[in-house]
Amino acid sequence: MVYYHDKFKPSIFHELSNLVKSHKSDLELIDMGIGDPDIAFDKKIAESFAKNIVEGTDKFYHYPSTDGHPILKKSIIDWYERIFNFKLQDENVTVFKGIKEAISYMCLFANSADDIIMVPDPGYPTYKLAAETCGAGVYEMPLLEENDYLPNLNDISDEVFDKAKVMFLNYPNNPTGATMSKEQFAPFLEKAVKHDFIICLDRAYNDLSLSDDTKKWTVFDMPGADKHAIGMYSMSKPYNACGMRIGFATAGKTVIEKFSNIKNVSDNGVFIPTQLAYAEALQRPDILENNIKIYKERCEIFKECFDKLGIQYLKPKATFYMWVKVPNGKKSREFVMDCFKETAVLFTPGIGFGKYGDDYFRIALTQPKEKIEEACKRISMWVGNAH
Ligand SMILES: Cc1ncc(COP(=O)(O)O)c(C=O)c1O
Repeated sequence: MVYYHDKFKPSIFHELSNLVKSHKSDLELIDMGIGDPDIAFDKKIAESFAKNIVEGTDKFYHYPSTDGHPILKKSIIDWYERIFNFKLQDENVTVFKGIKEAISYMCLFANSADDIIMVPDPGYPTYKLAAETCGAGVYEMPLLEENDYLPNLNDISDEVFDKAKVMFLNYPNNPTGATMSKEQFAPFLEKAVKHDFIICLDRAYNDLSLSDDTKKWTVFDMPGADKHAIGMYSMSKPYNACGMRIGFATAGKTVIEKFSNIKNVSDNGVFIPTQLAYAEALQRPDILENNIKIYKERCEIFKECFDKLGIQYLKPKATFYMWVKVPNGKKSREFVMDCFKETAVLFTPGIGFGKYGDDYFRIALTQPKEKIEEACKRISMWVGNAH
């Protein structure tokens, strides 16, 4: 008997973690596969988090409100106004444990195999896996270099748009580091309004914009956005907190209500000390400035190395990723496995993000400068010897 769950294959990150476990060479492993920041969590915030955990035993250990603690919601509204110059109302915001779960809730907007969820390829694997888990039809939108890593709307038929319930867009983008401007977003929103679906704009990396102009636009003043768009934000990457996840969504009242109705079936409110920690973090742009400075410096080391080796890459405008063309005509898995075997440096093969990623590999800049310099040294020797 074949069960529904037997259809699902483990994600690429499962495979990479097995590789890491099996590592036996004399060379020290340099793991730049998974996007989990190595930079320490802010100590001051950790201290007030700890204080709330200990001193709040009489008040913080009940079920928290499912849509978010008022202190966090106020901090989100202030943060949003500071970044986007737009004043949200309380009804425009809801809080959840992390975007990963929120993606699954969004997929429940599709409730039959005739409904379509549109996902980017290459893209964060959870979009496709969550859509398949819900039994929805999946439409993959290629993100190609020649189209600046944006889906090409002209390639998608009206029949697909008519069946679509949700379109996932993710900018700043994992895995490519590409960004999308408000002008580039506008025709996507027009399609969503015309064909009545919701765009879920995953902005997990918005606070990691390396050039300032990429992060400052909001959908709220765009026609139809109140009913057809939802933005999602996460603490994991920008605030070095993948182990203490929390995220939030912003949207028009009706979209937030629809989303919350689904979310509240499987989720309860986030632990209040975590919410209060995030409320504090959102008022600390210095954390982001420090992180961005570090990632930019790391990126420069790889750029110099790849320029010397003649390896092509996309200059990232945001995120802590680099999207690099596989050299020597290999496919991504073969290159990454060979690189790991020869240099003990681990990247993520682009195929793990979808078939349109197979000529690329992704670097997560989540190792200190010295290790990145060492990785570049090993790769230069290996690639140099192979010529
Ligand atoms: C594009 C994107 N969205 C969402 C997530 C998950 O974020 P969270 O930790 O908030 O669940 C990730 C994590 O890698 C991601 O790359």
